[in-house]
Amino acid sequence: METQVKDFRGKSLEDLLEDPAIKYASSLIRSGKLVGFPTETVYGLGASALDENAVKNIYKVKGRPQDNPIIVHISNMDMLESIVAEIPNNVKELCQRFWPGPLTLLFNKNENLPNIVTANLETVAIRMPSHPVALALIEKSGTPIAAPSANLSGFPSPTKAEHVYNDLRGRIPLIMDGGPCNVGVESTVIDLMQDPPIVLRPGGTDIEDLLPYIPNLKVFEKQKKYDKKLNNTPSSPGMKYRHYSPKAKVILFEGRPKAMESKLKEFYRNYKNAGKKVAIIHTQSEISLENLGFELSHHTSDKELIISLLDNDSRFSLAEVVAKGIFAALRDFDRKKVDIILVEGITEKERGLAVMNRLRKAADRIISSN
Ligand code: TXA
Ligand code: MG
Repeated sequence: METQVKDFRGKSLEDLLEDPAIKYASSLIRSGKLVGFPTETVYGLGASALDENAVKNIYKVKGRPQDNPIIVHISNMDMLESIVAEIPNNVKELCQRFWPGPLTLLFNKNENLPNIVTANLETVAIRMPSHPVALALIEKSGTPIAAPSANLSGFPSPTKAEHVYNDLRGRIPLIMDGGPCNVGVESTVIDLMQDPPIVLRPGGTDIEDLLPYIPNLKVFEKQKKYDKKLNNTPSSPGMKYRHYSPKAKVILFEGRPKAMESKLKEFYRNYKNAGKKVAIIHTQSEISLENLGFELSHHTSDKELIISLLDNDSRFSLAEVVAKGIFAALRDFDRKKVDIILVEGITEKERGLAVMNRLRKAADRIISSN
């Protein structure tokens, strides 16, 4: 199958709703095909949520385990009503406050939705994305769209159209290019049907922003910190799989920056001495990579093996900038065929909670120092 990539960058929702290319994309959705499309979080691999065979194909194309349910994307509240059993008042309030946006909520499904979407669970995870291309595609398709992230299962999520192309070319007819995703990590998934309500996956909506609306919201993430294997805290079905991992080995450093610095440099030198191609994802202004020594200053090609996610754009926090760039950085280093990626961890507050959740899952080893 030939995979077409069409350019939708920079267009407003209003223009997109009139765009013949959107009409074409939605005709693919309506006829049971799969389409790669941008959302504000990551790119999605979409199919009509009401078409059982189309959804089956999502699992096949991604190589996704059958027991991992898929998020349903909607563009208006009528679509929500058409697939859920009821909308409790407290949930409706959250929809009004946080949609469209990177927040996914659990509902009891109704019989309109095929069981394959929810991997036979009685609940369905739903969100209204804010990316204009996503909204226009759903609206014009006239059907809710089931979409996981548009990567091959296990690999870092795609935050650019080219990432989708690299993973899925030849397997889907169309990729809609809406430019790089602004958020860069997937949506926050919360379950309000449990008491207390819990965060199943931290993501693009910060817990700090949810707490005023859900004061008893529980986050289990912090307890998992040093205990990747032994956690049995609640999380969504998909979180148990190997995830977000590039081909290179990822080593994550945690702790105070100064303590982190000496460990990072020790690992860097040891791997270099063992003849490995080593890359660094730099997120800590307190760590100076200038004096990494000999290795860096004498081999200019090594400079390409450092990606700095430090940005002084004051509109965004450090954690937001890291979130936006982290998956692309992991993918870039795979393209450069590095053996080892050393990553400087960040503080687990606000967007940092989602970033560290993804990095811990991607990591083969976590080195903590204090
Ligand atoms: O931002 C996002 O959420 C992106 C974009 C494309 O919208 N989508 C995404 O989908 O990240 P995916 O499939 O990569 O991750 C969905 C997560 C999985 O961990 C899955 O187990 C969980 O949501 N999930 C889906 N339905 C669920 C349900 N009914 N109950 C609990 N967890 C659910
Ligand atoms: Mg995913």
